[in-house]
Amino acid sequence: MELKSRREQLEPALARVARADLRELGDIRIDDVLLFIDRGLENMPSYMDLYRRWESQQWAVSDLDFGPDRENWLSASQLDKDATLWGRRLFFTGEERVTATLAPFVWAAPTPEIEVFLSTQMVDEARHTVFFDRWWREVVQTEAPDMRSLLEQVRPDVNEGYNTLFYERLPGIAQRMASDPRDLDAFIEGITIYHIVVEATLALTGQRFELESMRELGFTHFGFYQGFTAVARDESRHVNFGIKVLQEAVRQDPERFAPLIQRTLIECLPLISGTLEPPDPRYFTEFGRSHEELLQFAMTSLNKRLHAIGINLAA
Ligand SMILES: [Fe+2]
Ligand SMILES: [Fe+2]
Repeated sequence: MELKSRREQLEPALARVARADLRELGDIRIDDVLLFIDRGLENMPSYMDLYRRWESQQWAVSDLDFGPDRENWLSASQLDKDATLWGRRLFFTGEERVTATLAPFVWAAPTPEIEVFLSTQMVDEARHTVFFDRWWREVVQTEAPDMRSLLEQVRPDVNEGYNTLFYERLPGIAQRMASDPRDLDAFIEGITIYHIVVEATLALTGQRFELESMRELGFTHFGFYQGFTAVARDESRHVNFGIKVLQEAVRQDPERFAPLIQRTLIECLPLISGTLEPPDPRYFTEFGRSHEELLQFAMTSLNKRLHAIGINLAA
């Protein structure tokens, strides 16, 4: 009874997020976008539901206006700029890395519905990469002849966990699928790293705190706020998808897949903490946040998702 009335209360907020265009996304809170994942845990959408959600939630990087972002950038303090750049370097490089490594997942997809959904995700990740490229060129105005040289300039050099995750684990598992697309263990390990560790735990945590800080500062009319909220809405579909794949795998063969997912997560846990740690604690404290607070949020989110998948990390 209580659950039903809570769900009824949520419906208008969810419907608003589902339909919002870029300008309307400026009025939407990230926590309302994340509700999609929690609702998905109670009432899992099908792969084709997620595909249809993708069709109706299209947006274009070229529709964003970075004018207010640029104006603010010119008057920002050096500490504000350093803190912003640290987070966005992780994101920009991360979006490019997940774009580069997704194709083998499509090849290894065990069903046509999964193949179709993953193909929509490839387009999303490419769009997210272009979003950051445009922000850099128009707001920071870094000089670079092409995307490769810009990415080389901004590649994060301080977070060891990040390097291991994005330059070893992710390409490594993608290569295993490329070498043998019928390797279902590789596919399940890949979804655990990509959709649960990188997207559900790292990306959505970073997005939530960045967007909430921008909202507190009154920056919701910025092109970055609107675009990044659209990115988070895309990520909520990807995370729903990843949870569904792993939930089905665990139901189908718990003895084979539950330990595989658990082992992968335990290996990745130190990398999560290592990625969320800023080189200067003021990058968080200046905005009223702390490393512990982000880590706590990341772990709470992770545990909720693991509960839906049907495993825990206690083993
Ligand atoms: Fe993305
Ligand atoms: Fe994603």
